Amino acid sequence: MLGLLTRRQEAELITSLQGRGEIPFKFEYLGEGANNWDKIARARAKTPDNINSLEAELLEKRMSDFLKAFSNVKKLNLIDIGCGNGIPIFPVMDELRRRKISFRYVPLDISKEMLDLAVRNVTKRYGRVESKPLLIDFEQGNFSDIAYELKDDGSSNLFLFLGSTIGNQSDMGRVLTNFRDSMSSDDFLIIGVELTNLARIDKILSHYHGKLVDDLVYYVPESIGISRKETKTSVTWNEIKSQVELRIILDRDMEVKIGKNRMHFEKGEQIFTLRSIKFTSWTLTKLLSDTGFRTEMLVGDRKNSYSLSMVQPTRYTI
Ligand SMILES: C[S@@+](CC[C@H](N)C(=O)[O-])C[C@H]1O[C@@H](n2cnc3c(N)ncnc32)[C@H](O)[C@@H]1O
Repeated sequence: MLGLLTRRQEAELITSLQGRGEIPFKFEYLGEGANNWDKIARARAKTPDNINSLEAELLEKRMSDFLKAFSNVKKLNLIDIGCGNGIPIFPVMDELRRRKISFRYVPLDISKEMLDLAVRNVTKRYGRVESKPLLIDFEQGNFSDIAYELKDDGSSNLFLFLGSTIGNQSDMGRVLTNFRDSMSSDDFLIIGVELTNLARIDKILSHYHGKLVDDLVYYVPESIGISRKETKTSVTWNEIKSQVELRIILDRDMEVKIGKNRMHFEKGEQIFTLRSIKFTSWTLTKLLSDTGFRTEMLVGDRKNSYSLSMVQPTRYTI
């Protein structure tokens, strides 16, 4: 697995483990990790009332309203940020097909395997689709150059950040700023976020137990020599940060090897593996406005458990 890391990623993993005792969650999607995510997404899609199905229903219902922002559009670039297996974008493509609007699929992901899977799934459903996969870590900076060039043929940009992926970010402001700085005044971003009833934390925590989640969060630990059998997992709620936190706790002293670097961990040490920040409509609206976005449209489901916000960078008047 570690052969898959670039030098920069290897340095980031080592620094993060040594400095903060954390494995950046984004690395869990690399290589074989992409299959672990695909299994979770497919299992979720079969269950009603979970985030993937709620988001799909909302997109099906409201995509025609979102598209009103693109009057006279010739062609849309669907920039699917953190594309996963690509299936969450199907309702968007279905609506574009119905309206005979042509599109280019632009999945953007840190994981080559996720990009391949997304393009495969889209091609399977829609036949030959023009696609331009982008292997990018969106934490590292903006991608305004690529977004700008995509419009060379007179097309328009619709960025999508689906599946409540914003909640897994250690620095949401940094990530949203990177998106904002990649967008010009005629681009839009649709961001899908789960809204949570914070009074039912017990119910939320139960979603983070089980083999599928373990397979995902143990992919990197097991690749660097931390055996699942010799650890325990801890799932806790951090009230102040409004986030679920997953950690692994070591049952014995362990030697971890990443590249040429060896690290020693002691029995009882904890390694942070996953955060999932939970939002209410208020905290989400505030986050978007604090990071310089203007909300063009905000839609939610009947139970107020999922929201889609269509936003644009705020323009400063001089
Ligand atoms: C929780 S999954 C969501 C996938 C999909 N959008 C969905 O709704 O099912 C997060 C996706 O974002 C990608 N990702 C996570 N961090 C990333 C980063 N820093 N840069 C690029 N992609 C990232 C992962 O590889 C994965 O495909």
